[in-house]
Amino acid sequence: MYLKYFKIKTQIPYLDLKPLSDRFARQDLKTFKEIHTSGRFIGGEWVTRFEKEFASYCGAVHCVGTGNGLDALTITLKAEIALGNLPVNAKILVPAHTYIATFLSIIHAGMQPIPVDVEQLNLTGNVLQQITSEYDAIIVVDIYGKLVEDEVYAFAKAKQKKIYCDTAQSHGATNACGVKSGNLARASAFSFYPTKNLGAIGDAGAITTNDKELANMCRKIANYGRQSRFKNSVIGVNSRLDPLQAGFLLNRLPLLDSDNKRRVEIANYYLDHIDNDKVILLSHDFTNHSAVHVFPVFVKNRNVFVSYLDHKGIGTSVHYEVPPHKQNAFKELNHLTFPVTEELHRTEVSLPCHPLLKDEEVLQIVRVVNAY
Ligand SMILES: Cc1ncc(COP(=O)(O)O)c(C=O)c1O
Repeated sequence: MYLKYFKIKTQIPYLDLKPLSDRFARQDLKTFKEIHTSGRFIGGEWVTRFEKEFASYCGAVHCVGTGNGLDALTITLKAEIALGNLPVNAKILVPAHTYIATFLSIIHAGMQPIPVDVEQLNLTGNVLQQITSEYDAIIVVDIYGKLVEDEVYAFAKAKQKKIYCDTAQSHGATNACGVKSGNLARASAFSFYPTKNLGAIGDAGAITTNDKELANMCRKIANYGRQSRFKNSVIGVNSRLDPLQAGFLLNRLPLLDSDNKRRVEIANYYLDHIDNDKVILLSHDFTNHSAVHVFPVFVKNRNVFVSYLDHKGIGTSVHYEVPPHKQNAFKELNHLTFPVTEELHRTEVSLPCHPLLKDEEVLQIVRVVNAY
């Protein structure tokens, strides 16, 4: 499959959204024209169609479109308060290793984040068993696209704690029983930010759930808390999925599985062939039940490694540099220490790993990383 020899040294960006999006240019223009001529610019059939197709893709009963992934999380939590399923000021267990949005959603819902250090990369059944602090519910995160292990869901069920999933990075990932991301937690919150595995060409998000009451309340909160045209029964926000983005996402959904397959293939090649004591890899298990949104490696001297790759024409990214509990925005959490998370944030470098990466580019990246 992979070319044995390659001669041309290319510039390999970490991620270039234009060629990825160009694959859908013709369909997108048709979609734009149809929506433009329909005169229906909020809600309508495009949003409904996407919600139906995405729910069905995830295997979930309901999907509620939102303006972005942060809102999808926040609205879910607010809906649970409105339904009396979580108290105002609820204490929410959250992995310390995540993007700040997960923490922000808890704060925006008026709740309290209880960060917990991860084991290797994520929360595990083992980590949860050792928690002594009080909490009301759990938000897990499929970080880098890898599904949170099934024991975590089993633990929540055994403890009768509600569990929600931040699925912003795991579109299409499937567990050992064939259950997809978006159908593993009580509710799941997706981001369709353009860089995601299923990305729009602007901001967009969605909530999936099998609970009708929760879906209805999320839909209501996302639309001003509106019960009918002139009646508002709860405090809502304005965070609706844009019909244009719904249409663009419908064009992209059929390619999600093959795109993810290619991501996994590239990640497996990296895991098999990167061989350098200075570059630490995750185990091969990383690509099981994973959408491989990010391919992380871990290096002691990150700046030197990143400059080296840059000098060789290879773009990289970092996920992430400062964990939420060490951000100035969360001064009240700054005293906390989570050694595993902090080491991840100190050493992580993301290598290019997207569906349009060519075999010869993958080979070149491996060769350059091995020569570091
Ligand atoms: C783990 C995680 N959660 C939530 C979000 C928020 O998504 P959005 O940017 O669509 O609000 C992101 C997006 O970057 C994310 O990576």
